[in-house]
Amino acid sequence: MTSDTADQAAELAELLSGTGPWLVLTGAGMSTASGIPDYRGPDGLRRVQPMTIQEFRSSSEARQRYWARSYVGWQRFDAAGPNPAHKAVTALQRRQVIGSVITQNVDGLHQRAGTGRVIELHGSLARVICERCGEETARRALDDRMREANPNFEVTSDEIRPDGDISLLAVDVARFIPPRCLVCDSDQLRPQVVFFGDAVAREVVAECFALVADAPGLLVLGSSLQVMSGLRFVRRATARGLPVVLVTRGRTRADDVVTHHLDGALEEILPATVEVMSESDGLRTQAADTFSAITINSSTG
Ligand SMILES: NC(=O)c1ccc[n+]([C@@H]2O[C@H](COP(=O)([O-])OP(=O)(O)OC[C@H]3O[C@@H](n4cnc5c(N)ncnc54)[C@H](O)[C@@H]3O)[C@@H](O)[C@H]2O)c1
Ligand SMILES: [Zn+2]
Repeated sequence: MTSDTADQAAELAELLSGTGPWLVLTGAGMSTASGIPDYRGPDGLRRVQPMTIQEFRSSSEARQRYWARSYVGWQRFDAAGPNPAHKAVTALQRRQVIGSVITQNVDGLHQRAGTGRVIELHGSLARVICERCGEETARRALDDRMREANPNFEVTSDEIRPDGDISLLAVDVARFIPPRCLVCDSDQLRPQVVFFGDAVAREVVAECFALVADAPGLLVLGSSLQVMSGLRFVRRATARGLPVVLVTRGRTRADDVVTHHLDGALEEILPATVEVMSESDGLRTQAADTFSAITINSSTG
């Protein structure tokens, strides 16, 4: 552990302690150590242009392009597992230092790391819905169907994009047979995620605002906060006078309003914070033991 990490961990442990469970908002920075890239690096600039919901709905060709790319990209996305930052979040939740976790990620890695009370603000790539008849399918099952329909579609790519997508040549896209709904045969199958240009369901936003109202503070992990759908919770928290602590590498859109910004790697800072807390528990237990030994000795002696 570098001295920087140790200092940041000590600071974070201090900030979070003794107040009751903080609300957490996470972003793509949580999963970069799992091999899933973020949209905006430390410079705050967007690296890739994701497909908008308008484009996705505009034509069968757009959906074919989406599913061809997603079919290839999802293999690696699906193979990614939780990293030490996800595991530390679970540990902090078990210690009741943090409570609910609002995530902007669609990778399901918080849940796989054992974190409970996760609100998937932008949905999940693991589920697919038919926009025509509402039929839901697990992505894994759909993946099997796509493989059966495309036995010779052997495009490999080292590139993986944040939304589980990759870029493919038009010639590859054109020969991909996109999936159709088993119930109504429509090709309007969409992953249950909030696309760019789409809005988060009103009741989900309301649920999150209620959590902000109940929390002693908001902890933001790995988000550039460039997207309003996450930024609005920071704004709500600061409007209520709550402390907002940000652990994210690089610049964010809320740097001027947050209480603290710890700039570093989550997969280092969060496990180190759990360690600091466990050590201080150990010291407290030791002190309590010493104290009771003294009391016992003085009362018996
Ligand atoms: N894993 C995913 O599910 C995933 C990945 C990319 C994008 N998205 C979607 O794209 C949108 C992007 O917004 P966002 O704010 O979540 O992400 P973002 O890409 O805009 O910002 C990520 C931030 O995390 C920082 N970061 C990256 N790795 C880090 C690390 N190891 N430690 C600390 N900080 C690190 C980056 O510097 C950046 O500031 C979200 O709405 C989300 O739905 C999801
Ligand atoms: Zn259907």
